[in-house]
Amino acid sequence: MTSALQVFGDRAEDVVRVAELLVSGEVVAVPTETVYGLAADALNESACRRIFEIKGRPLIDPLIVHVEDVSQAGDLAVLSRAFERLAEIFWPGPLTVVLPKRGKVPAIVTAGLDSVAVRAPRHPLIRKILHAAKIPLAAPSANPFGYISPTRAEHVAKSLAGRIQYLVDGGACEVGVESTIIDLCEPLSPTLLRPGSILPETIESVLGQRLRRPASAQKSSAQRAPGLLEQHYSPRTPLRILPTSHPSANPWRDGDAVIFISRAAHPEPATGCSTYWLSENGDLADAARQLYHLLNQLDVNNHGTLWIEQPQQSGLGLTLNDRIGRAAAKDTNS
Ligand code: TXA
Ligand code: MG
Repeated sequence: MTSALQVFGDRAEDVVRVAELLVSGEVVAVPTETVYGLAADALNESACRRIFEIKGRPLIDPLIVHVEDVSQAGDLAVLSRAFERLAEIFWPGPLTVVLPKRGKVPAIVTAGLDSVAVRAPRHPLIRKILHAAKIPLAAPSANPFGYISPTRAEHVAKSLAGRIQYLVDGGACEVGVESTIIDLCEPLSPTLLRPGSILPETIESVLGQRLRRPASAQKSSAQRAPGLLEQHYSPRTPLRILPTSHPSANPWRDGDAVIFISRAAHPEPATGCSTYWLSENGDLADAARQLYHLLNQLDVNNHGTLWIEQPQQSGLGLTLNDRIGRAAAKDTNS
C-alpha cells in the first residue's frame, strides 16, 4: 500500500471521521496515554487481521481491547469483584486486565485463548473516538513487531511508513511505557503479566492480595504475553546496558551514544561520544516519558552502539529495567 498518510487531529470533525473509518473496518493509528496504538473494530475479524499484517505480528500474540468504560468491558469479558475494584481506581488509565472472554470476541483478537485483555485508556482523544465510534477497539502498540513502541505521531509515521493510511496525532504520550497488565482469570492468584507505570505494590494494596510476579513466567508464558519475550522493544542500533561497577576504561567508542537517567547525577557529557539524559533530576516518570522517544530518535542517527545507564531496581525503575533489558537483548539473541 503506497497511498499518502492522512493525519487527523483533535477537531470535532476529525473525531467523527476517524470514528466512521473505524466503524467501516479501517485500521487507524491512535494516541493513548501510554504509547500509540494501531486500532481496529475489535468485533470485526478481518479488520483485526489487518493489524497483524501491518505490524508483521505473529497470530499467537493476542491484542488488548480498548473500551470506553466498565460497562463496555462487560460486553466482552466476564467481570469480577476484583476487576471492579481495580477499574474503580485506575480506569480510565494505563491498566490492562485479562478476564474470561465472552463469545462475541473473535478468536483472532485473543489468539484463540479463552481470556481477553481489556483497558479503558485515559488519553482524551482516544476517549472521544471510543465515545463517537461506540465500538471496542483492538489495538496493539503501533510499531512493527519487536521494534521500539511509538510515543509520538512522528514515530508511527516513520516506522509504519507506507503500511498505514490513517494516523491521529494526539501529541507526546503522557506515560511513555505500555500499560501494566494484570491477569485476573484465576481469582485466587492474580498475576502481574507486564509491569507498567501503575506499580504492582499499589495494585496489591487495592486487591488486598499478593500478585504472582512474572519472573518465573518470563519464558514459559511467552506465548500468552509476547510483551514478555526476552527480546522486544528493540532499536536496530545495538543497545547495551552500562556496567554498574566502574570499569577502568569507558566501554563506549567514537560514534556511540550514552544515555544517563539523570542529568543532575551525571552533569558532564561522556567523553568521546554523544550524551543524552532521560530526566533532569532522576524523576523516573520523566525518564519513562522520554525513553522510547529518545530510542526512536537515536535509532536514525547511525550510532555504533547506544549505551544506557541501568535505573534503580525498585518502583518504576523495575518497569524501565524490564523494557531496557528486553530492548538490549536484541543483539545477543539474533
Ligand atoms: O499501553 C498499552 O497496553 C498499549 C496501548 C496501545 O494501549 N498496548 C500494548 O499492546 O502494549 P501490545 O499488543 O503491544 O501488548 C499487549 C500485550 C501482549 O504482550 C499480549 O500478548 C498481552 O498484552 N495480552 C493480550 N491479551 C492477552 C490475554 N488474553 N492473555 C494474556 N496476555 C494478553
Ligand atoms: Mg507492543
